[in-house]
Amino acid sequence: MTNPSSDSIESVLQESRKFPPAESFSAEAHIKSEAEYQAMWDRAKDDPAGFWGEMAENLDWFEKWDKVLDGDMPDTKWFTGGKINAAYNCIDRHLKTWRKNKAAIIWEGEPGDTRVLTYQDLHREVCKFANVLKQLGVGKGDRVTLYMPMIPELAIAMLACARIGATHSIIFGGFSADAVADRNNDAQAKLVVTADAGWRRGKQVPLKVAVDESLEKSPSVEKVVVVQRTGAEVTMVPDRDYWWHDLMKGASAECEATPLDSEHPLFILYTSGSTGKPKGVLHTTAGYTLGTMMTSKWVFDLKDEDTYWCTADIGWVTGHSYIIYGPLANGATTMMYEGAPNWPDEGRFWEMVEKHRVNIFYTAPTAIRAFIKWGDDWPNKYDLSSLRLLGTVGEPINPEAWMWYHRVIGQEACPIVDTWWQTETGSIMMSPLPGVTATTPGSCTKPLPGIVPDIVSKDGTSQPDNSGGLLVMRQPWPSMLRTLYGDHDRFLATYFNEIPGCYFAGDGARRDEDGYYWIMGRVDDVLNVSGHRLSTMEVESALVSHEKVAEAAVVGFPHDLKGEGICCFVTLKNEDDTDELKDELKKHVRHAIGAIATPDTIRFTASLPKTRSGKIMRRLLRDIAAGRELVGDTTTLEDLSVLAKLRESEE
Ligand code: WTA
Repeated sequence: MTNPSSDSIESVLQESRKFPPAESFSAEAHIKSEAEYQAMWDRAKDDPAGFWGEMAENLDWFEKWDKVLDGDMPDTKWFTGGKINAAYNCIDRHLKTWRKNKAAIIWEGEPGDTRVLTYQDLHREVCKFANVLKQLGVGKGDRVTLYMPMIPELAIAMLACARIGATHSIIFGGFSADAVADRNNDAQAKLVVTADAGWRRGKQVPLKVAVDESLEKSPSVEKVVVVQRTGAEVTMVPDRDYWWHDLMKGASAECEATPLDSEHPLFILYTSGSTGKPKGVLHTTAGYTLGTMMTSKWVFDLKDEDTYWCTADIGWVTGHSYIIYGPLANGATTMMYEGAPNWPDEGRFWEMVEKHRVNIFYTAPTAIRAFIKWGDDWPNKYDLSSLRLLGTVGEPINPEAWMWYHRVIGQEACPIVDTWWQTETGSIMMSPLPGVTATTPGSCTKPLPGIVPDIVSKDGTSQPDNSGGLLVMRQPWPSMLRTLYGDHDRFLATYFNEIPGCYFAGDGARRDEDGYYWIMGRVDDVLNVSGHRLSTMEVESALVSHEKVAEAAVVGFPHDLKGEGICCFVTLKNEDDTDELKDELKKHVRHAIGAIATPDTIRFTASLPKTRSGKIMRRLLRDIAAGRELVGDTTTLEDLSVLAKLRESEE
C-alpha cells in the first residue's frame, strides 16, 4: 500500500490511485456491480417517473400519488396527489416488524451519559411531544424553531413536528442570538424548542440565554419549550416558557400521524448565500424522505445489523438527512453524539467506535485533518476493526487526508465514500457506491441513479472531459429544494438563472475520462492566475502534503501582473516558522502542481478562522490577503481571536 508521506509529492491533479471494492464487500452490498448501477442510472435518466415511482414503493403512503413527476425545473413537484408522513415512515412502520425493539438512536452525551431509544421508545416520545406541540397551539403549517444541543430531544422534536405537519427550522447551537432572531423572523416561527444549555468541551453553551435575547427581536414566537440538559440556571418567563419534562409528564402517548400532501413543507434550513442574508432552503415531505432513504441505503449500504454513526451536528443538513431521516426511514440504528471530538481527549471518537462497535462512520475532511494533526497514536490506541465503511462530506478532501483515513482509520479495508451534495440538494448526489465503484482519493466519482450532472461553460455549453467548468444538474430529483422560504425570486435567481434550464450548484468541477467528477470548490474560490484556472483546493492539497504542514487555506488576491495572486495561510505541525520553510513550501507546491501554482505569499498562523461547522472562512482570508478592511458577518466565527492574530501576521 502506498504511504502518503512518500508519494505526497505526486501531483494531486493527476491522482490516479484506484481502490476497487473487495469482492466480499460487493457480494453482500445492496448494489453489487457496475452493470447493476449503470442499468439503474440509465433507467432513471430515460424514465425518471418510472424509476422514482418504483423507488417510492419503498415508502408507506396513506394515499398513492397521481403523478410522480409534475412539471420541469425549476418548479418541479413530486408525487402530487399522494398523502404521506415522514415521521410515520421513520418510526411507525417499523413497529409492525421485529424492529419494534431495535435501537433506533444510540446517544452519548459529552460527559459520558448514554441513552438508547428503541423504535417503540422513539414512537412514544414523539407522540407525546406532538401532543405537547398541539396543546401549545402549534398545528399543520406552523413553523417551529429548534435551537438545541445534540440530545435525543432534538430528534424527538423534529419528528414530532413532522408528525403533525409543522415545519421545523433547526438553528445550529453555535449561532448567536441575533442569528436566531433573524431566522425566527424570516420563518415567522410560532414556537422555539431549546435547552437550558448544552455541553461543548466541558463548558456550557448557554442556549436559553440566547433565546431570551433573540425573542426581544422576534415577536412572532409565542411559546418556548426548554429541555433541562445541564441544570444551568435560567429565567423562565411565565406563560411563555415551559419545561419539557413538565409538559411531557401529562402528555398522551397516542397521536396519529397526519396524512400530508407529498409537497407539504417538512423543514426549512438556513444556509449562507453570496449575500449577508441567510437563505431559507425549503424541503418537502415525500421527495426528501425518498431521497434520503434511498441514498442512505445505496451509499452507506445500510444493513439491519449495522451501527451507523454520522458525526455531523443536526444543525446542518448532513445531520438532518443522515442522522435522522435517511437512517430512520431505513429502520437503521443511528448514533448521536453531543460533544466535541477532543473531549475529554483526542481519542473520544475512536473510543466511541470501539465501545459501540460502530460499523459505518461518516465525517468531514476538516475533522480528518484535525485527527491527523493530533497524531496516529490516538486512533491506534483503540480497536477499530468493527468499521466496514467510511464516508466524508462537506468539502473537497485532499488526497493526503483521504489516504490517512484509508490507512489509519479504515486499516486499508474500508471503502471510502466521498459524498458530494448540498443543503439545497437534500440528499447525496454524487458518491462512490461502496460495492461497485473503484474509489480514488479526492474524487466523489459518479452520480447516483436519478442524478444527471454536467460540466458547462458560462454560456451553458457542455465541456469536454478534463476541462473544468460549472457543475449543473440537467434533470430534477425528488429531494431538491423547492424554494427559498418567502423568496421564490431569489430561489430562481440563485439556482436557475445562471445556466438556463439547469440547476446551478455554485461549484466548479471537472469530469475525467473515466466519468469521475472532481469538485474544485465553490466557484468563488477558483483562482485565475495569469489566465490559468486553478483551484484553491489544489494548492491547499499540495501544501498539506508537506510533512510539516497541518492545515492550509489558500485565497486569491488582486495582483498587478497576474490578475490574481496566491496567498497561503498555513498552520504547522511544529513551530518551525522560518523563511527557509516558506521557500521550501513554495517549491513544494510548484513541484506538486506546476509553476503557475507557485504561491506568492505564505503566512504562518497558529490557526485558521472557521465557522462553527468547521468551514474555513475564506471571505475573511481574502479580505486579509488583500489588505482590505474586514467586512460582513463574523458571527459564525469559532474563535474571534484567530482573526486578530492573523492580522498581526501581516507582512
Ligand atoms: C461542498 C453539505 C467537495 C461544495 C452537505 C458544496 C463538497 C457545499 C463535498 C455544500 C464533497 C460538499 N466534495 N465539496 N464531497 N460535499 N461540498 O450546503 O462546495 O453545507 O457546494 O452541504 O460543500 O455545503 P452544504
